[in-house]
Amino acid sequence: MNLIFLGPNGAGKGTQARLLHQREGIPQIATGDMLRAASAAGTPLGREAERYVRAGELVPDAVMIGLVADRLQQEDTSAGFVLDGFPRTIAQAEALEAVLAGMNRHLDRVIYFEVSETTLIKRLSGRMLCRAQGHIYNVHSNLPKTPGVCDVDGSPLYTREDDRPETVRRRLQVYREQTEPLLAFYRARGLYAMLNAEGDVEAIYRVLLALIAPPVCR
Ligand code: AP5
Repeated sequence: MNLIFLGPNGAGKGTQARLLHQREGIPQIATGDMLRAASAAGTPLGREAERYVRAGELVPDAVMIGLVADRLQQEDTSAGFVLDGFPRTIAQAEALEAVLAGMNRHLDRVIYFEVSETTLIKRLSGRMLCRAQGHIYNVHSNLPKTPGVCDVDGSPLYTREDDRPETVRRRLQVYREQTEPLLAFYRARGLYAMLNAEGDVEAIYRVLLALIAPPVCR
């Protein structure tokens, strides 16, 4: 299954993509996680991306397209993948089509996570991540057993710098201007499926599984 998870910041794409990876073994290609890892490692990519991420702006298309194209060459994605956070512009979507066509692969579904703005703001304001592997928690809905410590790997939890209210507002504006046009792009290709992402995590996961199976016949 070759999937894209599309939707506004904080809609729960990363949470569901991680579950799908853990339970179904489908690799998660999360461009935000890749950029944060590069930034933590102090690589040239991380340093270049940091100023865009901090400001709530998109990292230039050419950088992101190169990053994802390289990742898709890796063997673990050959049986399927979930793209989480990519594409975010029409240029990225067109480049992805070309990359996949060049590998004789195609997309099966584009899942749009629909959530109200009130829910998004609440989720983003309460989010915490673990330092080591980016496991996701929330002060409103998913607290760790020990405050400030990841249940899975014991690393400390932190709040993302781009989850500050003023940056969240900018990210949502950027989403509306640059990413929302992708809904029509994928509708026109017959790949679009809407997921109501307002409920609890397990209920959403069940609906997600129903949406992605059986595979689209071509
Ligand atoms: P990225 O990390 O991709 O951020 P995003 O798209 O803004 O997505 P989020 O991680 O904020 O939200 P999510 O939908 O994954 O929600 P989550 O599951 O965490 O990108 C960061 C930055 O990198 C961008 O701003 C940009 O600068 C750059 N970038 C990345 N990709 C790029 C690209 N392709 N092109 C250019 N630039 C790029 O959930 C949120 C919270 O809600 C969590 O606390 C979670 O526990 C909680 N939650 C989740 N589901 C539920 C639920 N059902 N009920 C209650 N709480 C829930």
